[in-house]
Amino acid sequence: MTQAQPDPQGEEAFSSSVVLEQTAAAPESLLASPDQLTQREITQEIVDYHAAAARREAAGERLNMSLHDFPPYRSSLLRHPTKNPELVDPETIELWSPAFGQRDVAAIESDLTLQHIGEPQGERMTVEGRLLDSWGRPLANQLVEIWQANAAGRYIHQRDQHPAPLDPNVTGAGRTITDDNGFYKFTTIKPGAYPWKNHVNAWRPAHIHFSIFGTGFTQRLVTQMYFPGDPLFPYDPSIQSVTDDAARQRLVATYDHSLSVPEFSMGYHWDIVLDGPHATWIEEGR
Ligand SMILES: [Fe+2]
Repeated sequence: MTQAQPDPQGEEAFSSSVVLEQTAAAPESLLASPDQLTQREITQEIVDYHAAAARREAAGERLNMSLHDFPPYRSSLLRHPTKNPELVDPETIELWSPAFGQRDVAAIESDLTLQHIGEPQGERMTVEGRLLDSWGRPLANQLVEIWQANAAGRYIHQRDQHPAPLDPNVTGAGRTITDDNGFYKFTTIKPGAYPWKNHVNAWRPAHIHFSIFGTGFTQRLVTQMYFPGDPLFPYDPSIQSVTDDAARQRLVATYDHSLSVPEFSMGYHWDIVLDGPHATWIEEGR
């Protein structure tokens, strides 16, 4: 009987993985840009741009609800379109557009707490609401997709390396189809706030990203749902890029005790209105 020898390849692989682990989570202080503005400077910019928007509206200009070129939201400067949209063949887009699933939507996909063997960490919640058109009519059979951070504010994404823990029981993506009355419903965990390097000490308020698909990828609309009473609202240039206060409020869900599930979850209500005076703000250029 021969004694098992150490497997050099295995050992080397182990060493590499240790090196990777050591280099994966660089301290935020090393990743921060030295010329980042302070929160005070960003907040002043937000106040100034809101005042300018109010002056323009008072002078009779009808602004879009959001300035998608909103300088306090630094990355929006490079991300928003600067030229007229190109006409594209919608069917070609379908061939390479991203998608969460490759088959029909299963009922279990609307429950983000059931996607792994164990229970996710965090506060369980349900969010329910209706997808409506400008006349308040429900939109049935529509694909609604969500994605979110875990309870610690961490996404499963290679660019999210801030030192909050990943949760092995949270993927953070779900989808469902609206019913005959336009209702959707998700069961998930409340996402945490997270830092995002827009400026020094920049934190995003807790939010869930929503996508409404329409009949094809070129019709897809993307927005975010927030939680009532979040203390980060005034500091966040992303939600503040919606300059109209009433439009901002429409992005905030309502806590609804009748939707809370005894011994299980907190319930929130959030309707999505596609257009008209009560429209939910939609991210431009998606
Ligand atoms: Fe996010």
